[in-house]
Amino acid sequence: MLTVSTEEDLRRYRRAARATGHRVALVPTMGALHEGHLSLVDEARRHADRVVVSIFVNPAQFGPGEDLGRYPRTPDHDAALLAERGCDLLFLPEVETIYPPGAVTFVEVTGPPARGLEGSFRPGHFRGVATVVTVLFALVEPEVAVFGEKDAQQLAVVRRLVRDLRLPVTIVAAPTVREEDGLARSSRNAYLSPPERRAATVLFRALTAAREALEGGERSAAQIRARLRGVLAEEPAARVDYAEVVAADTFEPVEVIAAPVIVPLAVHIGGTRLIDNLHFDPERES
Ligand code: PAF
Repeated sequence: MLTVSTEEDLRRYRRAARATGHRVALVPTMGALHEGHLSLVDEARRHADRVVVSIFVNPAQFGPGEDLGRYPRTPDHDAALLAERGCDLLFLPEVETIYPPGAVTFVEVTGPPARGLEGSFRPGHFRGVATVVTVLFALVEPEVAVFGEKDAQQLAVVRRLVRDLRLPVTIVAAPTVREEDGLARSSRNAYLSPPERRAATVLFRALTAAREALEGGERSAAQIRARLRGVLAEEPAARVDYAEVVAADTFEPVEVIAAPVIVPLAVHIGGTRLIDNLHFDPERES
């Protein structure tokens, strides 16, 4: 595996891949890699001859008071995991490579699916994500880019961005990877103390209750929300930002579940904010 940090080295690699007819897949990450990220590398490999992973803790997507300063950074461990998993190129840019001094341009998805939920609770977050993803696409010029379904709203925002700007990249979604007890793999799980780690399973328990109700034929979003809230309320360490039922394409709340929905959760466990979701398509059930 090669590691590059500069735009020049990255572009040289990209030119060589193009000259030899190799398709490139990009997996954008913020590092602190775990099995969830590595499954994205596997997925990328199924779509391309060369897999590029970027690690960049993007300051533009963190709000004031969020965890930018303490976000886990484990570059050596990440590089070892990626090499072992067959990544071809690790792109490790400095802030100035992504945002050159004097850069004043941002990319913003100004309507659904960027508006509610994460868009409301983390103002500016999706502007930061859309901007860095656009810059990474411009630098790496991937044919394919892989994003995890765990960040379902981010995935919808990126799809929208690519569609609206006609970016020449295919977005591929990869399923959420979970611990044995159902907790979704996340770099932020590292913040959890042992009792918080136990409490954090409440997200999966709430989603499991919602799925059971949906599979049992419940089509009232209000009932599903009540079911989620009921399970989350049983965990004293949990503080809920949202527990919703939204349309899978727009992320706008629905009342009756007649088309594909996402059931997204954002819950604080102590000082750690966790997100998770499930996807449900009523058409597939009938
Ligand atoms: O999902 C993430 O890790 C980040 O939001 C991303 C897509 C790498 C952009 O910084």
